[in-house]
Amino acid sequence: MCGIIGYTGYSQALPILLDGLSKLEYRGYDSAGISVFSKDQTHTTYRSAGKLHELKRLTERSKATGVSGLGHTRWATHGEANTINAHPHSDTYGNLSVVHNGIVENYLDLKQELTNKGHLFNSDTDSETIPHLIEHYMKNGASFEEATEKGASRIKGANAVVVMCNDQPDKIVAFRTGNAGGVIIGYGTNEMLVASDIPAILGYTNTISHLLPGELAILEPNSVEFKDRDGNSIEKEKTVLANDPISLAKGDYRHFMLKEICEQPNAIIASLMGRLSSEEGLFSSDDLNLTVKEIKKISKIMLAGMGTSLHAAMLARLWMERIAGIPSEWDNSSEFRYREPILDKNSLFISVSQSGETADTLAAMEEVKSKNISQITLCNYLNTQASRIADQTLQIRAGLEVGVAATKTFTCSLVTLYALAIYFGLQKETIEKNEAAKLIEELTRLPEMIGKILTNQSQYQKLASIYHNSSDFLFLGRGYNYPVALEGALKLKEVSYIHAEGYPAGEMKHGPISLIDESMPVVAMIPKDALYEKMLNTVNEAKSRGAIVIAIASESDDEIEQKVDHVIRVPDVSDSLSPIVNSVPLQLISYYFAVRRGCDVDQPRNLAKSVTVE
Ligand code: F6R
Repeated sequence: MCGIIGYTGYSQALPILLDGLSKLEYRGYDSAGISVFSKDQTHTTYRSAGKLHELKRLTERSKATGVSGLGHTRWATHGEANTINAHPHSDTYGNLSVVHNGIVENYLDLKQELTNKGHLFNSDTDSETIPHLIEHYMKNGASFEEATEKGASRIKGANAVVVMCNDQPDKIVAFRTGNAGGVIIGYGTNEMLVASDIPAILGYTNTISHLLPGELAILEPNSVEFKDRDGNSIEKEKTVLANDPISLAKGDYRHFMLKEICEQPNAIIASLMGRLSSEEGLFSSDDLNLTVKEIKKISKIMLAGMGTSLHAAMLARLWMERIAGIPSEWDNSSEFRYREPILDKNSLFISVSQSGETADTLAAMEEVKSKNISQITLCNYLNTQASRIADQTLQIRAGLEVGVAATKTFTCSLVTLYALAIYFGLQKETIEKNEAAKLIEELTRLPEMIGKILTNQSQYQKLASIYHNSSDFLFLGRGYNYPVALEGALKLKEVSYIHAEGYPAGEMKHGPISLIDESMPVVAMIPKDALYEKMLNTVNEAKSRGAIVIAIASESDDEIEQKVDHVIRVPDVSDSLSPIVNSVPLQLISYYFAVRRGCDVDQPRNLAKSVTVE
């Protein structure tokens, strides 16, 4: 959720902090703030409600000088998104500066305790209890580091915190309690950085360490000391990040969302690279380390995720059952952990989380871990929080996704799960080698098919110009296209703020059909598959009630034009791959509707890219 950056070194901190925040803005954009510390043991704080450009404007008026500092971009949990609640927060006398991601679950008790001791609070946030708690211990004789350690031990919940103090302006203390977003320590040359996410520090270093829950780090320009939850000094492994072709530039694109939609052919190639070539079938052992014996023993697959990743999990269930012949189930991560699911020791749990940071999914994974059940997680990068819980990580390799709406990470999760289902099918011998070869051959043509879909974007602009004022949309699909209908509805809601529902088409007659009239466009996925006639029946029923129907239909379908109002053509493809192909026009519909309605496509209201609180 919130983005955090800290810097200590010999360069001017303000531009480094602002640059870091601009790379983190997708994590939260309700308000932002920065503190710059100077050697004369004072600091200047700028805070502003709204997006980062408001903060930048503020800092331009009076540029604070100093070679260390911290910054924050907020996604509000406690307290309105205004300037007073923006981070950094301070103590009663303005000695400390704190940025925070997570929720201090016992903040009301702490606030009461500290108020009784005379501390003065300014904001409505849970975060402000942290500097006051540290101040309290410092008043009682503890050093800045000791006070921060003591404060950390009093805070309940999952939190990531970075603290600085006027007394030691070149020192940064960072700590984590629980699984709230990451804390990454970056090793520069004569400078150290701390951030919630890798992109913020990539321009300065590619050598990092991850702070784990319960750990604390003390950073100075030329050193870092790590401590475990008992205060013992510990060594931490350094990871050198591979040169990732991350581009934070929009290039010729107006929005990251469109850039990322258009990157899908290449992203899918990267996802599948090395996963379609092995004689034995698909994944190499350093990619996925499961023996044939282990795969043969899998009795059930349980899949979980949230939002778009949940839709990927829903589709994967169908592939795992039909291609790999393994009984499979899916659940929303936040429901799964509270429902006491029945899993035996031969079950496999697969979580889908592009960020690897989603709090609900991490909690579901911990639950599975506590039952000693084997688990794989799908993430966009290795070394995520999810990777640390799972037995194995399958990297979806979509490349950095900046737009808050998941697009290329969705299709890359899908192709990875599809290849996994074929791999399991081959090992379990539920699919013949020649049948698998056909599926793989088609999968290799997917980037080309998507490339073709991307060539005709004017049709989406036209649809948006006709229907952008509609207040409700229905998305219908059956079988493989039911999860796609849900995803189409989610995307439209998310970026264009139009109310939309996704339904399995067969469900229409059981209630939703009463919503239909000429003011509600219906987007129907009607591929030429086994359920084609049944989808047409639903469309006819909707048309008879005045609905406007936009069909996503196969190129070879020469009847559809007479049956619906608008047709978006997609290449002919097998039933099992059609959901991936069909999801691309739905992304383009959402994008062009949002643009037509003047919405902030890349940073839709109230959302954040990684949901690191429950
Ligand atoms: C929708 C969207 C969200 C995420 C969800 C899970 O466009 O981006 O619904 O899919 O928050 O995020 P991850 O995959 O990071 O766990």
